[in-house]
Amino acid sequence: CGIVGYVGPQSALDVVMAGLKRLEYRGYDSAGVAVLADGGLATAKRAGKLVNLDKELSEHPLPSAATGIGHTRWATHGGPTDANAHPHLDNAGRVAVVHNGIIENFAPLRAELAERGHALGSETDTEVVAHLLAEEYSACADLAEAMRLVCRRLEGAFTLVAVHADAPDVVVGARRNSPLVVGVGEGEYFLASDVAAFIAHTRDAVELGQDQVVELRRDEGVSVTAFDGTPADVRSYHVDWDASAAEKAGYASFMLKEIAEQPKAVADTLLGRIDASGTLSLDEVRIPAGVLREVDKVVVVACGTAFHAGLIAKYAIEHWTRIPCEVELASEFRYRDPILDQQTLVVAISQSGETMDTLMALRHAREQGARVLAICNTNGSTIPRESDAVLYTHAGPEVAVASTKAFLTQLVACYLVALYLGQVRGTKYGDEIRDVVRDLSGISGAVERVLGTMDPVRELARSLAHKNTVLFLGRHVGHPVALEGALKLKELAYMHAEGFAAGELKHGPIALIEEDLPVVVVVPSPRGRSVLHDKIVSNIQEIRARGARTIVIAEEGDEAVVPYADHLVRVPATPTLLQPLVATVPLQVFACELATARGNEVDQPRNLAKSVTVE
Ligand code: G6P
Repeated sequence: CGIVGYVGPQSALDVVMAGLKRLEYRGYDSAGVAVLADGGLATAKRAGKLVNLDKELSEHPLPSAATGIGHTRWATHGGPTDANAHPHLDNAGRVAVVHNGIIENFAPLRAELAERGHALGSETDTEVVAHLLAEEYSACADLAEAMRLVCRRLEGAFTLVAVHADAPDVVVGARRNSPLVVGVGEGEYFLASDVAAFIAHTRDAVELGQDQVVELRRDEGVSVTAFDGTPADVRSYHVDWDASAAEKAGYASFMLKEIAEQPKAVADTLLGRIDASGTLSLDEVRIPAGVLREVDKVVVVACGTAFHAGLIAKYAIEHWTRIPCEVELASEFRYRDPILDQQTLVVAISQSGETMDTLMALRHAREQGARVLAICNTNGSTIPRESDAVLYTHAGPEVAVASTKAFLTQLVACYLVALYLGQVRGTKYGDEIRDVVRDLSGISGAVERVLGTMDPVRELARSLAHKNTVLFLGRHVGHPVALEGALKLKELAYMHAEGFAAGELKHGPIALIEEDLPVVVVVPSPRGRSVLHDKIVSNIQEIRARGARTIVIAEEGDEAVVPYADHLVRVPATPTLLQPLVATVPLQVFACELATARGNEVDQPRNLAKSVTVE
C-alpha cells in the first residue's frame, strides 16, 4: 500500500492526491483521503484505481485544508470495496487512520473494542487502530503519545499515519517494517511510503527507523521518538533524483520508458565499479576480503523477477568462483530450516528493498550467523539497511509494476558480485576478469541495438494477441530467461505462459505442443559451448515436428537455426553467461506489446503491486 500525509500552506488535498498518484505502483485496489477542515474531518474513498477517487472528489469536493492524509491500497484483510478502503475512522468520526501492513492481533483487539461498545464497520484490521487511537487521545490529548500507546499493543507489520480533528495542524506516523519517509520543506512537512510522493516539493528527507513514531507540527516541525517515548536519532538525507525521472517523458507507459532506459541503466550500474586497469573496485561490499575468502556456500534469496536474476547468478557464481550456490524463493527459504552459518554468504536481491518475503529471509539468515549482501535499487530502503553490505543497482526509479530495467541491472550486479568473489578468492585472474569486464562494458551498446530492431517483435506480438498460451524454452542461463519471458506475459497479458528447461520438454511438457502453439526458444551462442547450442537446435526440431510455431531468439550469424525458425529474432553475439542481458529484452517488448494489443494497462496489471510489503 501507499501512504501520504501533509501539513503546510498548500492545499492538503492537492498535495495528497498528487502524492498518491506517484505511489499507485504500491497498490491500486482502492484509494481514499481525509482532510482536517472547519473543526472536523472530511473523507472520501473509492474502490478501484485513483481515477475513481478523483472523479468522486470532482463531483463532491472536500473543503480546503492545511492537513490531510491519503492511501492507495493493495488489499490484505477484506476485499477491495469502498467500505474497506482507507482512511478508517473511529465512531465519532474524529480520528482518521491509513495503514500499510497486517495487524496480526486485530481479532482480540476488535473483540475487546466491541465489548467496550465500539461499532466496527469494515472488515479491515486497520479500523481497530482508529478506535484505539480515539480512546487513548481522549485520555491524554496528545496524538503522538496516543499513537505510541497504541503501537505498543499492536503485533505484526504496520506503518500508520493518523490525524485527529482536535489537533488540526498535526499529522503523526508510526513505523514497524514497511517504510515511511518524512519530507521536510519550508514550513511544510510530508509523510510518505516513498520519496516519490513528495519529490516535487522537497528533496530533503528524514528516514524513520524501526518502531518509531513521528509527529509533524505545522509550527514546530518534526520530532521522532521510539515507541516507548524516548527521543530518537534521525538520519536526514538529500534525494539525488528529481521528479522528471519519475515521469513518463513522452512514452505511452512507464514500462516502455523503462525498457528504453535499459542501456543507460546497465552502463550506470557498471559506472565507478571498474578502475582504469580493468579491476573491480566494489568498495561498497564492506564484507572484509578475509571473510569472503572463507565463504563456502552462497545462497541467493529473492522474489518474482529478482528471483530469476538469482537463478542466472548461480551459473556465474559457480562457474567463476567454484563456490556452491543455491537460489531460493524468499517465501520458501526460511520455512525449510536452511543450513546456514558464518561461512554462508546470502545474497538478497530486491528492486524495492521492501519486499517482506525477502526481508524476512534475510533476517532469518542473519540470525543464523550468515553474512548478507543486498542487491537493491532503492537507496535507504529496509533490505539494504538490514544487510551487512549492499551493492546498489543504478536503474533509477522503476515505476511500472513489471520489472524490466531493474532486472537487467540486477544481472549486472550479480555478475559483478560473482567476479568480485572470484577476484578476492583467486579463482579468477586479472586477464580473465578484464575480459569479462570488457564484455560487460559492451552490453549497454548491445541492448541499444536490440531495442533498435524490435518492430518485427511488436508486429508478431500483435498477431498473437488472440492466443491462449505461449511457451518459453531455454537451456543453461536461457532457462531463467524463459521463465522471465513467461512471467512477463502472465503479469501483463494475463495469458497462460510457462517457461521450461528445453531438455526437460521431452519428460512431460512436450504433450502440450499442438498445431500453431507459439513457442519462444532462447538459443545460446553457437560459439564456446556448442554442445548446448546443438542440443537446443534439436529441441526446436522436435517441437516444430509436432506443429509448434517457433519463435527463435538467436545470436547474429547463427545460421543453424534458420531452417527451423518460423520467426527469427536476432540478438548481438555475447558470451553465453552474459546472454540473458540481451535475450531478455525482446521478451519484455513482446509481452508489453501483446498486453497492449489485448487492451491491458501495462503499468498496473490487475491484482499486482510493485512492492509487496506483506508475507
Ligand atoms: C512484486 C512485483 C514483481 C517483483 C517482486 C519482487 O511481486 O510485482 O515485479 O519482481 O515483487 O520485488 P523486489 O522489489 O523485491 O525486487
